[in-house]
Amino acid sequence: MPKILIRNARIARPDGSIFEGDLLCQDGVIERIAPQIGSAADETIEADGNLLLPGVIDPQVHFREPGKEYKEDLGSGSRAAVKGGVTSFLEMPNTDPPTTSQAALDDKLRRAAEKCVSNYGFFIGATPDNLDQLNRANPACGIKIFMGASTGSLLVDKAEDLERIFANGSRLIAVHAEDEARIRERRERFKGRGDVAVHSEIRDNECALRATQLALELSKKYRRRLHILHLSTHEEVELLRRDKPAWVTAEVIPNHLLLNVNDYARLGALVQMNPPIRRPEDNASLWAGLRDGAIDFIATDHAPHTLEEKRKPYPQSPAGMPGVETSLPLMLTEMKAGRCTLAEIQKWMCHGPAAAYGIRNKGKILEGWDADLTLVDIEHARPVRNEEMFTKVRWSPFDGRNLAGWPIYTIVGGQVAFDRGKIRDGVHGRPLTFS
Ligand code: DOR
Repeated sequence: MPKILIRNARIARPDGSIFEGDLLCQDGVIERIAPQIGSAADETIEADGNLLLPGVIDPQVHFREPGKEYKEDLGSGSRAAVKGGVTSFLEMPNTDPPTTSQAALDDKLRRAAEKCVSNYGFFIGATPDNLDQLNRANPACGIKIFMGASTGSLLVDKAEDLERIFANGSRLIAVHAEDEARIRERRERFKGRGDVAVHSEIRDNECALRATQLALELSKKYRRRLHILHLSTHEEVELLRRDKPAWVTAEVIPNHLLLNVNDYARLGALVQMNPPIRRPEDNASLWAGLRDGAIDFIATDHAPHTLEEKRKPYPQSPAGMPGVETSLPLMLTEMKAGRCTLAEIQKWMCHGPAAAYGIRNKGKILEGWDADLTLVDIEHARPVRNEEMFTKVRWSPFDGRNLAGWPIYTIVGGQVAFDRGKIRDGVHGRPLTFS
């Protein structure tokens, strides 16, 4: 593997302070950080004083392979990831077929080894009757339970099935927490309404709160490691602030921080997702929850659907938005506006997810740690443009928004994967391991 020298960077330390100097990558790890490194390298990257960050770990994406490769595949999803400074992702099991067995997991790992330019890990999906697979499938970052139905066929909504999964085994359970019974009842109640804004009324805050409460109760009863995916409501933040055992973590998505029901008027079904976008008050509570630790980190829930699909009338329009290539610039732009710090960004997007999933040696720029890095231009803002997106569906709900912090280079395991707008040939990510 080539020796890569990054010269004259503003290197982010884990505490958010800046070290001005050089960084040498060798054999996939950060070999040295020093004011000046003279040693000959195979390649030298002139950082010109730009900001060097640990590669982002995106702990929730949907890359659609196998089954829906016309929307995304593991290759295109991983290319979009590194364009956005994301060097590792954890992918969800609601593919077609779903990832509910060792054989399906092996198939994904095989495909990823061939195609992915970033590092990769996969969830195993829960069904009412695959308990044995859930606890044995390897390597898996955790078990995913859809407590409420979303894209795909996965659903575990019966109390006894949930209880059985929480009671048996010890690995992390990640929940999509929406109450299926309440969703169904409210879908009936709001039947006549065809405007997409009704989506947030059908799957209301109470839907999310009830499921989160149930998952939390089960987790406490069995002391089972629980992760609550895409927290979206004020009420859930309050609940976790009051009562979050040490073995529970929660995440939030930039969409739930930065979009709300007022965006339906302009963007329609483009901003339809599960759980839905909420009120501005929920945006504010989620920010507060992130800052005070009720919420631990950030994921994107990158969930691409084509524009053609999104143009179908509600409720045929599918739920989900792409996000993996915009999350870091979005958050760095928020940082520039004073909403958060560089230390928080690294905690929420790099070493926080690494710690939660037991991913070793990633998420901090330290000598001896993995050389997963992204060099970003924090000074100059550029708008998001649909036509520049690397995701196959080529759109973003943030089209037109001016963002700073776009990656210039992204390095995966000591290999330059993203180089000033282009993906380099011959780069391969590695499977993540979870301890
Ligand atoms: O909006 C969503 N889209 N939420 C999910 O939970 C699934 C995702 C998808 O896969 O499309």
